[in-house]
Amino acid sequence: MSGRIPRNFIDDLLARTDIVELIDGFVPLKKAGRNYQACCPFHNEKSPSFTVSQDKQFYHCFGCGAHGNAISFLIEYERLEFPEAVEELARYHHLEVPREQGSFSNSPQQQANRSQLEDDFQIMEKASRFFESQLKQKGQDSGAIEYLKGRGLSGEIVKQYNIGYAPNEWDAILKTFGQTPERQQQLLDLKMITENDQQRRFDFFRDRIMFPIRDKRGRVIGFGGRVMGDGSPKYLNSPETRIFHKGSELYGFYQARQQNRKLERVLVVEGYMDVIALAQFGISYAVAALGTATTPEHIQMLFRATKQVICCYDGDRAGRDAAWRALVNALPQLKDGVHMKFLFLPDGEDPDTMVRRIGKEAFEQLMEEKAVPLSKFIFDNLLQRHSVATSEGKASLKAEAEPLISQIPGEYQKQLLEEALSELTGEWDKHKIRKDTELANAQQGVAKLGYQTPQAPSFSPGRMMLRLLMDKPSLAKQCPEITPDALKGLNVGNLEMLIEMLSLCLQNPDYSTAQILEHFRTHRFSKALGKLIAWDHAVRSKAMTTVYRDSFKRLIDWHLKGRMEELLSKARIGQISQDEKKELTLLSKHNQ
Ligand code: UTP
Ligand code: MN
Repeated sequence: MSGRIPRNFIDDLLARTDIVELIDGFVPLKKAGRNYQACCPFHNEKSPSFTVSQDKQFYHCFGCGAHGNAISFLIEYERLEFPEAVEELARYHHLEVPREQGSFSNSPQQQANRSQLEDDFQIMEKASRFFESQLKQKGQDSGAIEYLKGRGLSGEIVKQYNIGYAPNEWDAILKTFGQTPERQQQLLDLKMITENDQQRRFDFFRDRIMFPIRDKRGRVIGFGGRVMGDGSPKYLNSPETRIFHKGSELYGFYQARQQNRKLERVLVVEGYMDVIALAQFGISYAVAALGTATTPEHIQMLFRATKQVICCYDGDRAGRDAAWRALVNALPQLKDGVHMKFLFLPDGEDPDTMVRRIGKEAFEQLMEEKAVPLSKFIFDNLLQRHSVATSEGKASLKAEAEPLISQIPGEYQKQLLEEALSELTGEWDKHKIRKDTELANAQQGVAKLGYQTPQAPSFSPGRMMLRLLMDKPSLAKQCPEITPDALKGLNVGNLEMLIEMLSLCLQNPDYSTAQILEHFRTHRFSKALGKLIAWDHAVRSKAMTTVYRDSFKRLIDWHLKGRMEELLSKARIGQISQDEKKELTLLSKHNQ
């Protein structure tokens, strides 16, 4: 029954809420004076102009003008209607939303729709409870309990995910919930019962293990039902209904958000059982797409909740294809600051079997060490289809890669990939070809630099060097091994700019950043440098020298890798010369 939400309840709700804590759960905030700050979640920006005031319980973005209180934030951020946002906030405080009778706040049609939906959610919740109780009553005789035990599920996890059993009857749901024609129609609409050509009605799910599917607010919107033996289909899922839209729901997302105030990362897996097994073993941040590919809506929903998404697939052909589809869908969602990775499991394993075999720690270690960043996977995949040994191959690589990369909204992520692409398609011939000795020298240089990477920067090495030089021109003198000449052979985006900057800094080690910028004011690079200086690189001043050197090392590594890729492609099609073979051998050694 839905009426108007009482004013004083909303007041009370806001009084209980700390907007800083609330927003921090979605967008990590940093303290800045009396207020808190972040990059605005409502528009694309590089320096934070989104400010949250604890005193005023109010947020405001100086960039785009977005502003409001905790409820407005939920409306905007989660794309909720006002009453939904109030419900969400109430849920956060474990409160029920009271409703006044006799409201005129909505049109009768809206009211009817809303109470219809609420009624739908209620009957689905009741059906879910019914399946749970059937598991208790009939689980023994039907073999359902034995099946669950055989799959290694604990009683606790069965309860937590409300796993149930649909009895082997034609009319269990029909009889229990379809007492009136209206109820039966509703059950038909929600696909809990079906009707055959003779207008006979019967239960949709029979003799199956039942997994209720919840939306992100925890409401039951559909079911997945698994056969216990070898029957087909293995999983029967609720079809699309007015409350169930597969493309925008993820199994386990609600539980993941319940278990983790802040989701550091989310693991996307393929199956219901994977989500549940992972949760049972303490990995409570896994979700599954519901028998569909990962859609753009899924990715958007995930990147609202977390900064890191790891998609887990079989290592086989099908798994790689699925990963590629997910990648393509993810590109338009890649803001700066979010990361996507791909984890491929060994043949014949899925997360369920894997976590049971190796446990939580080893599984998490696998994620840390074996997950492939999107920036690598995209080129691994493309290079299987395009050979960069020929100019035709380079052109076709470019033709496929560019439209993909251009969809990325995050400037820096985009630049990183654009630069990697130009490494592969670049005009290597012009900077022709490192002789063996030259190569050996470069390698020695790299070896001499030997130190640990302090932190993998999310920025291309060339731009990082450029940015650091602008911050601290004296770096150039401190690292005399990095000369304009050493840079010249390398195929980097911004190479010219970098070389000019380095020369300027070598000549004027005492320059300040302002002086550097002044020097470039009317220069053709001035706009690009202005953009770059707005970027917060987060490198502490103590670490600058190390990061600067490390970036140079990475440039050289990149260069050598790109060259190796080119030679490998040539070798594959049998067009490699003796000299190039030697060079390749050297390069392979370096890259081991
Ligand atoms: P899998 O066939 O990989 O099954 O399907 P699974 O998750 O490992 O299941 P178990 O371990 O044998 O129980 C992965 C997912 O694809 C969807 C389901 O969402 C399933 O979890 N699927 C699979 C279906 O929707 N229908 C099917 O018939 C099979
Ligand atoms: Mn499985």
